Amino acid sequence: MRINDAIRFSGAQQHVRPDAEVRQMRPGRRRVLELGIAAAAAWVVPWPRALAAERSREPTAPEIEGPFYPPELAADPSLFVFDDDNDLIWRAGAASFARGTVLELTGRVLDTSGGALPNLELHVWQCDAGGRYHHAGDTNPVTLDPGFQGFGRTVTDGDGRYAFRTIAPVPYPGRTPHIHFKVRRAGKELLTTQCYVKGEARNMRDGIYRSIRDPKARDAITVDFAPIKDSRIGELAARFDIVLGVTPEA
Ligand SMILES: [Fe+2]
Repeated sequence: MRINDAIRFSGAQQHVRPDAEVRQMRPGRRRVLELGIAAAAAWVVPWPRALAAERSREPTAPEIEGPFYPPELAADPSLFVFDDDNDLIWRAGAASFARGTVLELTGRVLDTSGGALPNLELHVWQCDAGGRYHHAGDTNPVTLDPGFQGFGRTVTDGDGRYAFRTIAPVPYPGRTPHIHFKVRRAGKELLTTQCYVKGEARNMRDGIYRSIRDPKARDAITVDFAPIKDSRIGELAARFDIVLGVTPEA
């Protein structure tokens, strides 16, 4: 794979495919090797050769933050108190991978002219495969999945691209499947929104989803979750592009 065709996951750590059953060495993750699992090449996410025509140049519709944004970050975004990298299916210190369907979630952050917006911080958070957030305020009485990270962050590259490895979102009481997004720069919040699954019948019964009245704006936050060809574990891929209506300060 040519380097231009791939986006490498952010940070010093490089992530590897779960179906290879290997992990990049990193503090807190060496336990996998103790299980006798061999190391392999770093994981990269294929990137369409022709960067797809942008879905919309209209600013992405904002949505509510909801009650489950990690409280430590809400109080002090500089805090680093848990595993918060862009690989949510493995939480540092956990004894197992996350339950659920693995999802390669990628996209670009653009301005309304289609220009790439690099060096923006992206936060994502979502419930685990049982429908529970890793948040003390979630009273859903299902067992928490200790292998799921629940929250992750990364930084857009020079082409405005980002990538997360997470699980496909699932419904929980009162909500259609969704993934929360927040875009920030230098501690300033630029956008909070949510990403939804195209073809999901629950969408139009979801009050937060329907609160976006403009069908085009709704379509722009509703994306395909497509099977990855030849994936041995049934991984999905989704691309969610975000358009900012404000020019971030450098
Ligand atoms: Fe939510």
